[in-house]
Amino acid sequence: MMTLENHFERSGSMSDSSDQLVTTKEAFCAPEMSRYSKIADRWILPGIIDFTRFGYWRNKKRWKKITGNQSNKHILITGARTGLGLCAAKELAKLGAELTLVVRKAEDITPLVDKLKTVSGNKNVTAEVADLSLIGDVKSLTDRLVRKNKKIDVLINNAGALINPRLETKENLEQSFALLLLSPYRLTLGLKPLLNQSEQPRIINVVSGGMYTQKLCVNELIMPKEKYSGSVAYARAKRGLMIVTESWADAWKEDGFVVNAMHPGWADTPGVQNSLPTFRKITKQFLRTPEQGADTIVWLAAASEAGRISGKLFLDREPRTTYLIKSTVETKKERLRLLDFLDKF
Ligand SMILES: NC(=O)c1ccc[n+]([C@@H]2O[C@H](COP(=O)([O-])OP(=O)(O)OC[C@H]3O[C@@H](n4cnc5c(N)ncnc54)[C@H](OP(=O)(O)O)[C@@H]3O)[C@@H](O)[C@H]2O)c1
Repeated sequence: MMTLENHFERSGSMSDSSDQLVTTKEAFCAPEMSRYSKIADRWILPGIIDFTRFGYWRNKKRWKKITGNQSNKHILITGARTGLGLCAAKELAKLGAELTLVVRKAEDITPLVDKLKTVSGNKNVTAEVADLSLIGDVKSLTDRLVRKNKKIDVLINNAGALINPRLETKENLEQSFALLLLSPYRLTLGLKPLLNQSEQPRIINVVSGGMYTQKLCVNELIMPKEKYSGSVAYARAKRGLMIVTESWADAWKEDGFVVNAMHPGWADTPGVQNSLPTFRKITKQFLRTPEQGADTIVWLAAASEAGRISGKLFLDREPRTTYLIKSTVETKKERLRLLDFLDKF
C-alpha cells in the first residue's frame, strides 16, 4: 500500500502519458471548495439549487477529462442493476476497470452482466448476489470474496432505497437502518483485508442531501413503528454514513486509504420514480439524469486528483459542507457512540 503522496506521483505520471493535454502535476491537485459554493451553502437555497441539473451544468464547465488508466483496477459496486449504480458501472467498465457488481436477485445477473459487457466492450464484469439489508447475506458475501482473495481497489457503497412504510427484515431489523447504514458499515469492514491489498484503496459512500435535515442521534437510528417516517429514517442513516466516512478516513489515513462520500443531487432514477412520485412530478424539469447524478461516483473512483483528498462529502467533483444547518451538528460523544453502536450487530 502507498501513502497519498506516493500515489499522487504515480497516478499523475500514469495519466500524463495517456493524455497529452494534461501534462503538469498541478492538473492533479486535490480539489477545493469554490468561493461560490461556500456562499451558496451558507445561504442554503443556492446550495440546494446545486442539487438540480442547473448545478450540474454550472459545475461541469471546470471539469477535466478522467484520464487515469483503470485497466489494473478492480472495483466493487453495490446496487448496480439500476439508476446511479448502473450508470457508474457503465462508465467504469468503459474506462477499462474490472468490475464486481452486487445485485439482489440471481436472475438479474446474466442480463446485467451481458448488457455491461456489450455497451463497454469490457469483458471483465462479474456479479455476486446479496440482499444487502440482511447482515447474514453481507457476511456470506464478504466471506466468499475474502476466500477468493482478489484485491479490491475501489468499493462503492451505492445500494439504497427510501423505504415506506416501515419494514422489518427477517433478521428483525428495521430495514432503512439495516440497508443504508449497517450494511455498508459491515460490508466495508468485511472487505478491508482485500482493500488492504490495493496500492491506494478507495471507498465511496453514496449519501444524500436529505442528511442535511437530520442530526445524528444514535438512539433514534432505529425508528419505532409509531414514529416511523421513511424519509427521516433515510436521512438519519445517510447522516450516520457520512460520519462513518469521516471516521474511517481519519482512522485509516496512515494505511493510505481514501474514503469519501458523495451525494448525487436529485437524479431521475427508478428509486426516485418509485419512492417519491409526487416529488418527481413537481421537480421533473429540474432533475438530473442518472448519468449526471453518477458522474461524481465515477470521478471519485477513477480520477487521480480524487485520490488526493479523504474524508469529504462531494457534489459535482467538489467538496461541500456536511452541515447546512447549525442545529444538526452532533456532539463528539455521539460520533463515538455511533461506531460502538454499529459494532454491536
Ligand atoms: N436518485 C437520487 O436523486 C438520489 C439522491 C440522493 C441519494 N441517492 C442514493 O443513491 C443511491 C442509488 O440510488 P438510485 O437513485 O440510483 O436508486 P435505484 O435506481 O432504486 O437504485 C438502487 C439500487 O440499490 C439496490 N438495492 C436496494 N435495496 C437493496 C437490497 N436490499 N439489497 C441489494 N441491493 C439493493 C437496487 O437493487 P434492485 O435492482 O434489486 O432493486 C438498485 O439497484 C442510493 O444509495 C440512494 O440513496 C439517490
